Amino acid sequence: MAAVVAPGCPTIRRMPAPDPAQRAAELRALLHHHAHLYYVLDAPEIPDAEYDRLFAELQAIEEAHPALRTADSPTQRVLGRVLDGLAPVRHAVPMLSIQTETDTTAEGARAFDARVRRELALGDDDPPVDYAAELKFDGLAIGLRYERGVLVQAATRGDGETGEDVTQNIRTIGQIPLRLQGAEPEVLEVRGEVYMRRDDFERLNARQREKGEKTYVNPRNTAAGAVRQLDPAVTASRPLSFFAYGVGEVRGWPLPERHSQLLDALAALGVPVSDRRAMATGAEGLIAFHRRIEAERDALPFDIDGVVYKVDRLDLQRALGFKTREPRWAVAHKYPAQEQMTRLNAIEVQVGRTGKLTPVAKLEPVFVGGTTVSNATLHNEDEARRKDVRIGDTVIVRRAGDVIPEVVGVVPDRRPAAAGPPFDMNALLGGRCPVCGSAIVREEGEVDWRCSGGLFCAAQRKQALLHFAGRRAMDIEGLGDKVVDQLVDGGLVRTADELYKLGVAKLAALERMGERSAANLLAAIEASKRTTLARFLFGLGIRHVGEATAKDLARHFGALDRIVDAPVERLLEVPDVGPVVAQSLRTFFDQPHNREVVERLRAAGVHWGEHEGAASPAAQSLPLAGRTLVLTGTLPTLSREEAKALIEAAGGKVAGSVSRKTHWVVAGAEAGSKLDKARELGVPVLDEDGLRALLAGAEGVPEEGS
Ligand code: IVH
Repeated sequence: MAAVVAPGCPTIRRMPAPDPAQRAAELRALLHHHAHLYYVLDAPEIPDAEYDRLFAELQAIEEAHPALRTADSPTQRVLGRVLDGLAPVRHAVPMLSIQTETDTTAEGARAFDARVRRELALGDDDPPVDYAAELKFDGLAIGLRYERGVLVQAATRGDGETGEDVTQNIRTIGQIPLRLQGAEPEVLEVRGEVYMRRDDFERLNARQREKGEKTYVNPRNTAAGAVRQLDPAVTASRPLSFFAYGVGEVRGWPLPERHSQLLDALAALGVPVSDRRAMATGAEGLIAFHRRIEAERDALPFDIDGVVYKVDRLDLQRALGFKTREPRWAVAHKYPAQEQMTRLNAIEVQVGRTGKLTPVAKLEPVFVGGTTVSNATLHNEDEARRKDVRIGDTVIVRRAGDVIPEVVGVVPDRRPAAAGPPFDMNALLGGRCPVCGSAIVREEGEVDWRCSGGLFCAAQRKQALLHFAGRRAMDIEGLGDKVVDQLVDGGLVRTADELYKLGVAKLAALERMGERSAANLLAAIEASKRTTLARFLFGLGIRHVGEATAKDLARHFGALDRIVDAPVERLLEVPDVGPVVAQSLRTFFDQPHNREVVERLRAAGVHWGEHEGAASPAAQSLPLAGRTLVLTGTLPTLSREEAKALIEAAGGKVAGSVSRKTHWVVAGAEAGSKLDKARELGVPVLDEDGLRALLAGAEGVPEEGS
């Protein structure tokens, strides 16, 4: 929710004017309530704009009455200053760590339950112990100190006795309440984990990639790094989340009897508590929870590295007590790791459906995140270089959730002397697409190399054919992905033109295709031959050429040949065609393969009506159709580019030098040798007014000096 509002936003006038102090308190309460619904419960009740309006109103009151600005005001989240260092904070109650059970099988849970029963001197006949079973969030432990319901301090765990003051950073996390709801205990220290959701992490990294900046290794390190920033603005720019899992110092707040009730109570105060927790009875209950969460692990929106079991009754927790720095009443039961080290054996390049070339790491197979991984993405050339990944390196592979396995970094200490050279896509591929041999290109400002093969490249063929047949392109009904897969895999169709050579017999032989559907498809293919230039152009699937651009091009040029041969400068004259689109068109039509496919399509009978090819007849009737002009010197009002654009819009051509074929020379001040040449060859010379008359279609344009 954007809580940033432009100054000067109108505030609502009320009749009668409310007491500002009262209204500010009202607004704070409203904003806290709606922020909780939005950030914690993910169930907003008002639109963002309404929240922003309330926020702006509070901001305006605080501006007018600075004394009304309170520490828990929602306007105060992101107003920290850059620090020289993080101040130490002594924990009133030590922040302990937790014993880890590394046996990831059911035995891990049994061993813990057996220990607890032994310590509590329970016999075989005694009932099973009740446990609170929770997720083990993978982030950074934080203690949030609320005094009289207001967040006053946030600290990291540090060594357990002394942590670091990260209050101003923690305040920027929307999920963390600045004020507790419905109670104001003297002191309540909430403990929990700051973490980063996987989707937030992926988005953050996507942004980094776009900016050409370093990507982050994993959500945990990113979250931890963000919390320990000296500049709160940096923390505020990282999407962080929080879950509470316990308490530290508590004064003036009645503790319930059980840990599970404690978490319920925290949730009621507006603190985020995961609802993926359960009461588990005895070892069997723990094992069932461990299994259930393991099955759900990949689908969770955040990383966990295990589950945590806690004896639920607080009196039993007290009875069990601590063993040095760890409570005897809790254990972390791990899952197989989602990051592993392995050897990088080779780097291959995959061609995606749009021609995008992705470097893929070929790995010594490794068990990570629940499966054996032998391929992992390196994303793109810049990423591979930034990570300085080399063949022979020991790399860290990550596989979490549905995200495809990726190489997140190398272990520099383990680089062998014989490691390969730094990654270089062009050198690796010898400048050619590994599938079709076309030139590979990496346009300025782009992170990806691409195969320029377009329709010719097998890896792009299926996608290209589907696009060609699409409703907004050639509109071939019945040519869906199942059919296209078979046509391409069976070698029946390589490029779009070959669709027009298919016969009923070949089509009917495809899977799930009877005589009747084959005949229908054939009819649809036949019908598609009559089309429009715009649809045809769009159907070619040229990068950056969408439906609207295809229409603009068709309208401007009128004929395909003119587009195929147009230099970048001419393409740029089309409304909404910028350098990227123009270059993409050139790259496409400069590939002989693509030109051939276009020719074969026309030869197969694909055509567009003259009236739709539009500009053909219209172009003929333009005032300067078929005329060549040369510009020289400085015109009084028109720039060279403007004059050129006007001439071309009128159907004329601007040439760089004067010859007998030149129809007119347009001369301005300080015209040079071109004017001499014109006089020498007897080519008519015009000034700017003369040019304007020409453009307006005037006949018998007066020549300069005549
Ligand atoms: S309870 C005295 N519960 O795991 C017990 N910890 O050492 C205190 N963690 O640093 C920890 N999820 O940051 C607890 N549901 C959970 C947890 C959890 C993650 C972290 C915590 C701690 C580490 C264990």
